[in-house]
Amino acid sequence: MEKEKYELRYQYVVGILKAKINIINEQLSREYGREIIREVSSRLKKPDSIHAKLLRKDYERNFAAAKKKLNDLIGIRIVCLFLDDVYKVAEMLQKQSDVEVIKIKDYIEKPKKNGYMSLHMIVEIPIYLGEQSEIKRAEIQIRTSAMDFWSVLDYQLIYKKNVSGAEEVAKELKGYSEEIAALDKKMMKLRNKIDKI
Ligand code: GTP
Ligand code: MG
Repeated sequence: MEKEKYELRYQYVVGILKAKINIINEQLSREYGREIIREVSSRLKKPDSIHAKLLRKDYERNFAAAKKKLNDLIGIRIVCLFLDDVYKVAEMLQKQSDVEVIKIKDYIEKPKKNGYMSLHMIVEIPIYLGEQSEIKRAEIQIRTSAMDFWSVLDYQLIYKKNVSGAEEVAKELKGYSEEIAALDKKMMKLRNKIDKI
């Protein structure tokens, strides 16, 4: 029962956020005359993964603690084609009066040690349930298609840590992250050049 209620409320939040993101996409796409957002996906954190994270962070292991401490029970991922579009979308989200941005981590400006790049925003939105309202939190990850492509392989490496050969692969992958960062910039500049032709 608790689980069903959880899923329903969180689907509600996902629905609201996706609707907002769709409108942002339409506004920006119209303004710039091109596709701004390529893909939007979402996930609810699974119970086993909630449990593992509470354990890892040394928090109490119950649903109340999860709701209070974990920012990413709800995860939304937005994939854009171009680097500057990532920031356009983030800015539009921040401008929404019922979206409160709690935290921004810019792993594009400052990639993680392994090369991971993405713009992370923790946001809070109100949801209305009959006469009550609740504030819900979600993690929004915004990145380019190239960064998203990169993270697919990185994700597979998570499960192969400490395996022989993994270190070498991680090093190679880190190098590709730098290439992707450079390519994203070049593609953006080229797009601007094409716009001026
Ligand atoms: P957790 O990493 O989830 O404990 O939270 P945090 O507070 O450290 O936030 P962070 O912004 O580092 O990561 C949040 C989410 O971003 C993760 O749950 C992943 O979905 C994603 N993420 C962070 N780092 C990486 C990474 O190195 N590789 C990949 N593929 N995803 C990452
Ligand atoms: Mg982390």
